[in-house]
Amino acid sequence: MSISDTKKIVPASLVEEILGLKEARRAVLLAHNYQLGEVQDIADFVGDSLELSRQAAATEAEVIVFCGVKFMAETAKILSPEKTVLLPDLQAGCPLCDMATAEEVRARKASLPGVPVVSYVNTTADVKAESDICCTSSNAVKVVESLPQEEILFLPDRNLGSWTAEQTGKRLIIWDGYCITHQRILSEHILGLKEKYPDAEVVVHPECTPEVRRLANAVRSTSGILRYARESSASTIIVGTEIGILHRLKKENPEKVFLAPSALPVCPNMKRITLEKVLWSLEEMVYPIEIPEEIRVPAKRAIDRMLALP
Ligand code: 13P
Repeated sequence: MSISDTKKIVPASLVEEILGLKEARRAVLLAHNYQLGEVQDIADFVGDSLELSRQAAATEAEVIVFCGVKFMAETAKILSPEKTVLLPDLQAGCPLCDMATAEEVRARKASLPGVPVVSYVNTTADVKAESDICCTSSNAVKVVESLPQEEILFLPDRNLGSWTAEQTGKRLIIWDGYCITHQRILSEHILGLKEKYPDAEVVVHPECTPEVRRLANAVRSTSGILRYARESSASTIIVGTEIGILHRLKKENPEKVFLAPSALPVCPNMKRITLEKVLWSLEEMVYPIEIPEEIRVPAKRAIDRMLALP
């Protein structure tokens, strides 16, 4: 099935108010590739998790309005504690993050002495604080390869874990978490589209199941998918990830056709951030993210180790 994103009529006055207030507050708007199209369109920067962490670490703005989910805003705060980091809706969580608690990770570490912990950034700040190094979907392979050990505890996403194990040949002890949105992408959806569009190429996110990944021409982070689409000579591309990415794909490649595997891969948490909430966030300076120093400092060490990799 082909999904075209719904075109919302956005009042110009709403956009003007946000942009005016953004300037007055000396704020920057960072948005993830899965955000609503109208939110992406007013952001200063739109990207994947790694690009957004780099932006958060480097910005000179005093306020970061994070249009994404909570762990992304937490990462920004961990990196830039002197800045005010706002998440326009505190309910914008990530079920995958909630699949590993710090207590569970501590217990697992105790049973695996000497085994380093690699945490996907889709974790809470407390879990990052228990980790040796973080990774994102775009650098998980590089992060795991950078460690001298052959045996590594990888958490919390089992699909990114199995992908990374396949790519590196290392023995990963993989946590049993998963992204409910990517789990809804099924191999039969991809096969059905391939039957209808035999020349189409397939690019999917590593949070997809191994069955889906095996059908893909490429496995990439969200920004990796955008790069793949720009560089591919294929005129039709089947995209296995959250459908918010279609907005940028279509905007940047108007001559190409992008097909979502079904209407199912929608992250309800990413869609909680609306323009009205962004305005409210700037007006009332809500909701500020705070992280206690005893968690922030060790969590930052794990993120810094990742960012230090070339
Ligand atoms: P990316 O880092 O590829 O943007 O992925 C973020 C994410 O949460 C995927 O579900």
